[in-house]
Amino acid sequence: MHTPTPFPAVTITGVGAYAPARVMTNDDLSKFVDTNDEWIKSRTGIRERHIARDDEPASAMAAEAGRLALDKAGALPEEIDLLVVATVTPDSAMPSTACRVQPLLGLIHATCFDLNAACSGFIFALETARQFIATGTARKALVIGVDKMSTVIDWQDRTTCVLFGDGAGAVVLERAVSGRGILSCATGGDGSMADLLQIPAGGSALPASEETLKNRLHYLRMEGNRVFKGAVRGMADVANLALEQAHVSPDDLCCVVPHQANLRIIQALAEKLNIAIDRCVINLDRFGNTTAATIPIALDEALAQGRIKDGDLILFVAFGAGLTWGAFVLEWGR
Ligand code: ACO
Repeated sequence: MHTPTPFPAVTITGVGAYAPARVMTNDDLSKFVDTNDEWIKSRTGIRERHIARDDEPASAMAAEAGRLALDKAGALPEEIDLLVVATVTPDSAMPSTACRVQPLLGLIHATCFDLNAACSGFIFALETARQFIATGTARKALVIGVDKMSTVIDWQDRTTCVLFGDGAGAVVLERAVSGRGILSCATGGDGSMADLLQIPAGGSALPASEETLKNRLHYLRMEGNRVFKGAVRGMADVANLALEQAHVSPDDLCCVVPHQANLRIIQALAEKLNIAIDRCVINLDRFGNTTAATIPIALDEALAQGRIKDGDLILFVAFGAGLTWGAFVLEWGR
């Protein structure tokens, strides 16, 4: 799906990120599952990940990131009239995690809801909020990507448990005064591949039972190889769509902020887009795949490192369960 740039432009005015204090290294993992640092690093690029405390649900991490984003934007909590939380690990199925975050941040005027597009969730949430703002339905929105993957991965399954981490990232969105901001957004998906990456039980199709617990069906399952191929193709295609729509060539980009699932996926994407790998923001070595949180966490780091300045063009691109994919091009500036 293509979305033509609405007028007036909508932009990101503040970014925040949060990762739990506890760090789990590859060596830590190899103490309880049959793996090793060399395999994980060479096949994925991941060295360590952050793991949340038991008493630290997705809403608590989201609120930490959200508070920082509000500060950076200079936005007051009561000015936020929309809160969209992208997550596949909500505090509970009901109410939404957004409704848990709202009182933590004092967003007394915000309409709150969650959105699930797995690793593409942040881009889908950003695009949803952008439309609210572009049409005048909302003036300032807080968009948060958060996941506590440690609660849904099977710590006995070495093919998946080494890949993920916990964390949150947030942005404030509002109308741009300069005319800069989001230039294009492309999103898509293919539900015929839904079974490639799923948490089979715990929903209405397969409610929790003794049987589902015994068979470990409440944990994430993935056909890694097929997801890998779909990720490279889906991310490259949707990135090209967003670039084309923004009339931006890969050479014009200051950097690419890709979803952080696997270094080899990012390398293949860079090759397909004909972009040098050092123009891709990469932090999966220290965070693993935090699902809906990867892009805002990586953006926050790129800003802290001074990699982005006013007028720079940035491509954001993600891919996730569903399968889903999305990309947007942004000209940095308020
Ligand atoms: N440690 C040691 N050996 C392992 C491990 C491990 N952690 N995991 C798998 N192996 C073994 C396998 O058993 C296999 O052994 P065998 O040859 O004896 O059968 C061998 O390593 C190779 O396994 P592959 O699955 O072929 O390894 P591959 O290079 O494909 O890497 C990986 C697997 C990392 C999962 C990769 O396929 C991948 O990154 N896939 C995409 C993941 C992804 O992008 N997910 C997307 C989003 S997530 C979301 O939306 C929530």
